[in-house]
Amino acid sequence: MKQMHGLLSSPVCLTVIWFLSWSLRSSCAQIWNGEVSGLQYGRLGSNITLACGKSQHSRTSVMWLHNQKEELPWHKVTSDGKLVLLQASQSAQGNYSCHSDEGSHLHSISLMLGHPPEQLNVICRMPNHSYIHCSWVESVNTLLPAKYNASFRGSHEDWKPCVVDASQKHCEVILPAFWQVYHILAVTQTNALGSHTTLDRIKLDKLLKPDPPELLRVEQLEGFPRRLNVSWSYPSSWARLDAYPLHFQINYRPQGSKYWSQAVIWDTSVVLYDALEGYVHEVQVRAQDQVNSDSQWSEWTNLILAKPWEAESKEDEDSEEMEVTENYDIVSSYTEFEPSHNFEPQDDGDLGLMILLICFSVLILTTVLSLILVMWMRRRRRNHDTKQGPSSMVKMKSMPI
Ligand SMILES: *[C@@H]1O[C@H](CO)[C@@H](O)[C@H](O)[C@H]1NC(C)=O
Ligand SMILES: *[C@@H]1O[C@H](CO)[C@@H](O)[C@H](O)[C@H]1NC(C)=O
Ligand SMILES: *[C@@H]1O[C@H](CO)[C@@H](O)[C@H](O)[C@H]1NC(C)=O
Ligand SMILES: *[C@@H]1O[C@H](CO)[C@@H](O)[C@H](O)[C@H]1NC(C)=O
Ligand SMILES: *[C@@H]1O[C@H](CO)[C@@H](O)[C@H](O)[C@H]1NC(C)=O
Repeated sequence: MKQMHGLLSSPVCLTVIWFLSWSLRSSCAQIWNGEVSGLQYGRLGSNITLACGKSQHSRTSVMWLHNQKEELPWHKVTSDGKLVLLQASQSAQGNYSCHSDEGSHLHSISLMLGHPPEQLNVICRMPNHSYIHCSWVESVNTLLPAKYNASFRGSHEDWKPCVVDASQKHCEVILPAFWQVYHILAVTQTNALGSHTTLDRIKLDKLLKPDPPELLRVEQLEGFPRRLNVSWSYPSSWARLDAYPLHFQINYRPQGSKYWSQAVIWDTSVVLYDALEGYVHEVQVRAQDQVNSDSQWSEWTNLILAKPWEAESKEDEDSEEMEVTENYDIVSSYTEFEPSHNFEPQDDGDLGLMILLICFSVLILTTVLSLILVMWMRRRRRNHDTKQGPSSMVKMKSMPI
C-alpha cells in the first residue's frame, strides 16, 4: 500500500496523469465540430445571460468559448455557470459553447444582437382610385430579421389586410370604394426583441397622383410653320372610366428659352398655334384628376423635341436633315430634330460664297494677263516695224508679267 502511494506521488507518474487528462480533454473538445444548437437574440448594449443548456442541476465549473476561442468579450460567469456578457457590443455576436471541466462539449448558442422595432417611415402612393401601394423603411436600424403585417381601414369600416409582398417592404390595397376620404394604415413590425405598430392617417384625395401621361408625340402640320400638333394618351394605370377623367397641363418653349408657355387641356391632343418659326421646341405634359382639385399632379413626361414645318425653298437644303429625322421617327416614334443640324445650311452658304469669290478672282486674273499679253504683242510688232535698238527690247522683257 505504501509502495503504491509512493508510486502515485512520484513526479514521473504525476506528469503522466496530467498528460493523459490533458490529451483526453483536448480530444473531447475536438470532437465538437462547432455546430450550434440554439439561437439567442439580445439587445445591443444590455447585459446578456447565456445558460449552459437547460439542465437544472447547477454546474459549478464550466468553460466558455466564443467562436471556438478562449478570448471572451467583457463578461462574468455566475456561480451556476451562466455566462453574462456585460453591455454587449456588436463584436460580442457569434457562436458560444460551454464545456465541462473534463472538456466535453455541453451546449452551444448562436447570439445575434440588435434593437427592438420602432416607428417606421411609411410612404404611400395612389396611381388610380382603386389602388394604394405603401412602402416603409426603419427609422432605427434594428439589425435583426423582421416580419411585417399591415392593415387598412376607412373611418367606421372594418380592418382589411394590406397585402405584404415577399420582400416584406411593401404592401398593397385594392380599394373597392373611394368615397371614404380618411383612412388609417397600420403596419406592425415584429422581431425577436418585440413588435411595434406604426399608424398612418391617409387622406385619399390628397394622395391620389396619376402616373405621367404616355406616348407623347409632337408633330409638324404641313403648310403651317408656326403650329405643332401635340398628342398623348392616358397613363395605362388609369382606367379610362368616364367617372374619373383627367385633365392635362402642357409646357412648351423654343429650345434655349427660359420661359415656358403653358396650357391646361381637357383632351389628349392639342394644336399649338404660337410656335416660333424655324425653332426646335421642347414639350412636356402632366396629368391630374379633373374633379378632385386636392389631388396631385403627376410627374412631367420626358421632354420631347420638335420643330414646326418649314417652307419648300428651305426644304431642298434640309432634305438630308429630313432623312435623318425620319430615322429618328422609326427608332423613337417621336418627331425629334437634332438642334445642331440648324447650323449646317449656314455653313453651306459660306462655302458657296467662297467658291464664287475664287472663281471671280481667277476670272479677273485671266483678263489682266490676256490684256498684258495683247499689249506686249502689239508693242513687239511696232518695235519690229520701227527697227529700234536692242536696249528697248531688253526693257520690254524686264516688264513684270
Ligand atoms: C456559428 O455556427 C454556424 C453553424 O451552426 C456557422 O454557420 C457560423 O459560421 C458560425 N459563426 C461563427 C462566427 O463562427
Ligand atoms: C449589467 O451588469 C452590471 C454588473 O453586474 C451592472 O452594474 C449593470 O447595471 C448592468 N446593466 C444593465 C443595463 O442591466
Ligand atoms: C399583425 O398580426 C398580429 C397577430 O396576428 C395582430 O395582432 C396585429 O393586429 C396585426 N397587425 C396589423 C397592423 O395588421
Ligand atoms: C394631331 O395628332 C393626333 C394624333 O396623331 C391626330 O389624331 C390629330 O388628328 C392630329 N391633329 C391634326 C390637326 O392633324
Ligand atoms: C391601378 O393601378 C395599379 C398599379 O399600377 C394597376 O395594377 C391597376 O390595374 C390599376 N387599376 C385600375 C382600375 O386602373
